[in-house]
This record gives sequence, C-alpha cells and structure tokens, in this order.
Amino acid sequence: MNLFNLDNLSREDIMEVINLAIEFKEGKEVDFKQKKLIGNLFFEPSTRTHYSFDVAANRLGCKTINYTEENSSSLKGETFYDTVKTFDMYNLDALVIRHSKDRYYDELTNIKTPILSGGDGKGDHPTQSLLDLMTIYEEFNTLEGLNIMIVGDVTHSRVVGTNKKILERLGNKVYLATPEFLQDENNEYINLDDKLSEVDVIMLLRNQLERHAKSIDLSDYNEKYGMNTKRAKQMKNGAIIMHPAPFNRNIEITDDLVEGNNSRIFKQMENGVYIRMAVIYN
Ligand code: CP
Repeated sequence: MNLFNLDNLSREDIMEVINLAIEFKEGKEVDFKQKKLIGNLFFEPSTRTHYSFDVAANRLGCKTINYTEENSSSLKGETFYDTVKTFDMYNLDALVIRHSKDRYYDELTNIKTPILSGGDGKGDHPTQSLLDLMTIYEEFNTLEGLNIMIVGDVTHSRVVGTNKKILERLGNKVYLATPEFLQDENNEYINLDDKLSEVDVIMLLRNQLERHAKSIDLSDYNEKYGMNTKRAKQMKNGAIIMHPAPFNRNIEITDDLVEGNNSRIFKQMENGVYIRMAVIYN
C-alpha cells in the first residue's frame, strides 16, 4: 500500500502504528520473517528521514538500496519517472521516495512497488507527522483536545501540510503563527505571543531558505518570531517545544533551548526510527 499522506488513515490506523512503534521502543523482540528489500530514493537532501528509514529497516532485519542522485544516471539526463521505473523492475518490497516536486507521485501511477513517501515538495511528509504524533502521544497520553501552535515558515513547509490536517482531524486546535512576510491568503494567522501561554505544543518550522524566491534577512527573526529564554518562561506548565529539524540554531530556537527540559526535538528523531519500523512492518 502506498503512503503519500495520512488522509486515508483512520484514528485507529494511526494508533495502531504508534502503539507498534512504542512496543519497538520498549524493546519488543522483532521476529520479522519477511526480510524486505527496500529502496531509499532521495532526490532531495535528507538526514533524518533517509537514515532513520535505513536504521529502521536494518533493525527489522531488512536490507536497503540507497540511491543518491550524484552517483546516478540522473546526471546523464534520465528522468525521475525512468529512475523510479528502473527500481520498480528490481522487485523491491517498498520504495521510500522524497522529491522536491509537489505530488511527485502523480506521475508514478504505473509503478507497482509500494511507495512510502519521504516528503513531496510543499505537500506532505507522512512519516514525520506520525513520529510527531507519537511524540505528542507519549507526552500527553492523548491525541485530541490539545492546543497546538505551529510557528514559522508555513508557506514553504511540507511538515505543516500533513500536521495541520491530521491534528485538526483528530480533534485538536491548531494555530498558525507565521511572520507577516511569509503569510499567504490560504490560512488564518495569529501572533505567536498571543497564544504562547495557552498552548500545549509549540511546533517550530525551519525557514526553508532553499525554497524562497528571494533572500531574506533573518537577523531579527528569533526576537520577533522564534523561541528564546524569554518566551520559554511564558510557556504553560508541561508544554513542549518540537521542531522537525534540521533547525537553524539561534534563528527558530536559541541554543540553550534546543536540548532544554521542554524540548522534544531529539526525541522526535529517536521516535522516527520506531515509527518507520512500524510503517515498514505493516
Ligand atoms: N525532518 C526531516 O524531514 O529531516 P530531513 O530533511 O533531514 O529528512
């Protein structure tokens, strides 16, 4: 089965993945007889998604083939479709694909190998959302009734695409706090400081500079729109800070908060392995 977004997953489906991921995290013995062979096809740079899928597959006793564009015939002009079709002919059990094009999978309808998306353009990032949901569930023992503020470069982020949809569908209130120069007409935005003391989760987003049409000055970004010690003191008791990473230190979040008590950023990365194990297992 393909996993392009979370639109077709019910609350029960999502909890099944999270509960299995938690079992893996707690040391569930893995007796995975399928020994899958998985192709990691990353047409855009990635550290967490690529290598945590790789680690997850290895932990399950599976093997991976890792495509990198710089060592491939893409450099000789081979198209994206033809590259994926080539791997499709190798009879792999799944292809993990990331591409900078929104809905890259629309041109892959002839591909028979199941595709687990590692992110499409500004569209969706389903396994990132699943690991974010796992992190929230571990913290609050629920995935509903929470107040969540997503802060930052909403316009260029694929993480917000999936997270806003799924968090709202599960019954949470989601606020978007985005710098004025990055706001669009598709969403309603609030001021970060107006809701800071009320929210359970502050989910920061990276400034996706590589996707901006023109360069922007980020010298006062942290003061105006980022998390710092002053703002951390205003957070409600028990509230947490998340960021999908990579993060720009001292821009979206100051150094002292990255591994602070309220931060779950590295826990998100840890959970990424277990979520991807559960996704491969299913
Ligand atoms: N969070 C995330 O997708 O990180 P990578 O781009 O390093 O995979």
